[in-house]
Amino acid sequence: MDCQKHLFQLHPDIHYLNNAYKGPLLRSAEEAGMQALLRGRNPSDMNEHDFFDEVEETKTLYGQLVNCEGSQVALISSTSYGFASILNNIASKKNGNVVTVKDEFPSAVFAAQKWCKQNDNQLIFVEPKTSDRNEIGKQWNKNIIEQINEKTSFVIISTVHWSNGVYFDLKAIGQKCQDCNAKLLVDGTQSVGSQPIDVQELKISALVTAAYKWLLGPYSLGFMYLDETFYDGTPLEESWMNRINAKNFSGLTSYEKNYKGNAGRFSMGESSNFILTPIAKAGLQQILNWTPKAIQEYDSKLTAPLFTHLKIQNNGNFSNHLFSLPVPEKCNKEKLQENIKKNKIIVSQRGESIRVSVNVFNTSEDIDALIKVIEAS
Ligand SMILES: Cc1ncc(COP(=O)(O)O)c(C=O)c1O
Repeated sequence: MDCQKHLFQLHPDIHYLNNAYKGPLLRSAEEAGMQALLRGRNPSDMNEHDFFDEVEETKTLYGQLVNCEGSQVALISSTSYGFASILNNIASKKNGNVVTVKDEFPSAVFAAQKWCKQNDNQLIFVEPKTSDRNEIGKQWNKNIIEQINEKTSFVIISTVHWSNGVYFDLKAIGQKCQDCNAKLLVDGTQSVGSQPIDVQELKISALVTAAYKWLLGPYSLGFMYLDETFYDGTPLEESWMNRINAKNFSGLTSYEKNYKGNAGRFSMGESSNFILTPIAKAGLQQILNWTPKAIQEYDSKLTAPLFTHLKIQNNGNFSNHLFSLPVPEKCNKEKLQENIKKNKIIVSQRGESIRVSVNVFNTSEDIDALIKVIEAS
């Protein structure tokens, strides 16, 4: 794949290496959003189908990305909403435990802490126990697998670590969860859209993804895949939109008892968000067109000179789109920060490392600019 910068409207003089913070909107998504806004002028042009059809199409697109049906996907406002909904429906094991990783994102951790307190389970934060870049992924994954046992109620983990990009081996983790009858709850916010994922193959029970990063979607919208074990569950709220008769506007006060099938009951209220849905849909369409596999290949090729320059390797420990770079010893850290700012490079500082995240709009000039400031610091 060639660089896709022309499909975005990024500042031409800024090196945006921070998609993990927020993804930019595509031109097509902007256009879709603007059209959606204008449609709000005249509600007389709207009919019942406008409440449901585009939402269904958008869920189906997300399903294609993660390998499930659209009906297995619920719309959520945020990752924290998704986890609140999921954890409301998980039975605990007696004197059990919940496994997560050190410094996991708070949306997962706060939900797990609350659940553990309510259910008298122990929350275990698995550490990598090494800082060696060549070993961290293997070691950390090994430690996670060892920690999962018959007492584990669930594992709650991201696809890749949000602060350093370590890639979690969800295939092995999913297998161990199945062997131990534990659920695997995954936060895909930092990779879904940019890295291939298959919820069936990985034996994922639930996958939540906020749309505003790698799905190149809007803020305040996300997707949640749920497997069949949740389909009798209790949603957080009782939206009329989630009942099977929702399209029949004149019959809503029959107070239909039956929810829509599969994950349908778990969508947030007012899920037919007329402005955000078209934006999310445009992002998903473009990503499916590119394919996450091709995006990873693009990212790998793009960033190779950076790793060569620093004489380090990714070694499969880190994802290609999101990784931490150790600041070389010879670098003056303050000067590096100054130079990064001066040269209009946008990255995230995470502890002692720089978090770099790239996508198909990034160019070799962006990577060269970063190499130059590291050299000059
Ligand atoms: C791994 C991960 N999950 C979730 C989020 C966002 O969480 P929420 O949607 O609850 O605001 C972020 C934001 O940086 C993240 O890195």
